[in-house]
Amino acid sequence: MAPPPLRSTFPLPRLASFRTGAPKTTRVHVARGALGALGHLDAPLGLDPEARHVLVTDERVDRLHGQRLVALLRGRGLDVAYVVVPEGEGSKSLAQYVALVDRVLELGADERTTMISLGGGVVCNLTGMIAATLFRGVRLVHVPTTLMSQADAAIGHKQALNGPRGKNLVGSYYAPDLVWVDPDTLLTLEERWVRDGFAEILKHALAQDEALLACVSQPDATLRDLDFVTECIERTVALKCSTIDADPLERDEAMVLQYGHTVGHAVEHAAGYALGHGESVAIGMVAAARIAADLVGVDTVDAHRELLHRWALPTEIPRELDPSLLLDRIRRGKRCTGETLWMALVDGPARLARHGRGCAWPVPVDECARILGWYPTHRGSFAPCAVH
Ligand SMILES: NC(=O)c1ccc[n+]([C@@H]2O[C@H](COP(=O)([O-])OP(=O)(O)OC[C@H]3O[C@@H](n4cnc5c(N)ncnc54)[C@H](O)[C@@H]3O)[C@@H](O)[C@H]2O)c1
Repeated sequence: MAPPPLRSTFPLPRLASFRTGAPKTTRVHVARGALGALGHLDAPLGLDPEARHVLVTDERVDRLHGQRLVALLRGRGLDVAYVVVPEGEGSKSLAQYVALVDRVLELGADERTTMISLGGGVVCNLTGMIAATLFRGVRLVHVPTTLMSQADAAIGHKQALNGPRGKNLVGSYYAPDLVWVDPDTLLTLEERWVRDGFAEILKHALAQDEALLACVSQPDATLRDLDFVTECIERTVALKCSTIDADPLERDEAMVLQYGHTVGHAVEHAAGYALGHGESVAIGMVAAARIAADLVGVDTVDAHRELLHRWALPTEIPRELDPSLLLDRIRRGKRCTGETLWMALVDGPARLARHGRGCAWPVPVDECARILGWYPTHRGSFAPCAVH
């Protein structure tokens, strides 16, 4: 027997839709001494005095700044539990994420909990992934302590974990509510990591902003001058905030945030994270400039090398890295569709090249390999060769 016809009391639309989520505003506060100032504020980091909060940091930052910050917050009557993860890129993993979710639940987190990250980009991204997924999203505050995280990783809504097949392959768009930047925390950071983070500031200078380019090109500027570094952070934060605000999904002008990352991520992963993220991006920016010289027809390679050398950053892909491995990593990047890479390229100082209506430049993988001197260019048949 045929089933009775379906009846509805509502008219059935041909196409239904719904929207979710309210737009969220992230506040970013940059000031030297901002951490100590928390001791005098009415509601430090906007924390709810009735809720249990969880602060995540790594072993090194714990010793240098974590215990002081937790004591300060608890001194204001706030309930803050505390988790310490091993330092280094290895903590930005699926395994660490699973262990941490369990620990955070064990500590009594609930929907009113704020997750607080205190540390570099690794801790920012790991804590961001927990905040994005715990009870389908809890409040998130970043207190970044490396130049990389103060100028870049904490300023945005991209949270990610690494996997065996590549960097940042699992992630989520989830914005922090507040980013509290105290450049004075950089006083304890090793010089190598200050330089490494500065690469992301140079990215905005080389591909986006002439004023920042002029600022970082001053002959007497030095990373030992914390007022100069603070000015660079403020300028970069302002650029990044307005860029994300205009193009949150990085389809157009926010492609600038990807500058140097296509080759940079591949180098970082292929080198087993022996190179820092910023060092890898520096190398990737020179590779992008070489590709732009060939495909866009504007040669800024020497200008890139000169600026990056001035800040003691590497510019060449290490010769020991196997080109076939690099190409494999490049193909696995999220900006590779089929055999096309969608890259940010420059066509002049501090200027992103436009392609059609956007700033994503299509680069065939074969062309990338040819320009960077990786022969032969077809999949799976590389002989190791010198990489320039
Ligand atoms: N999501 C994004 O938009 C984004 C942007 C840029 C970078 N990232 C990610 O950030 C990560 C790199 O971040 P990172 O360079 O900050 O690395 P990191 O977090 O590993 O920190 C580097 C080292 O500095 C130590 N450290 C941190 N703060 C310190 C301080 N104040 N004093 C002394 N030592 C301190 C840490 O313990 C660690 O050993 C990468 O995983 C990268 O992919 C993400």
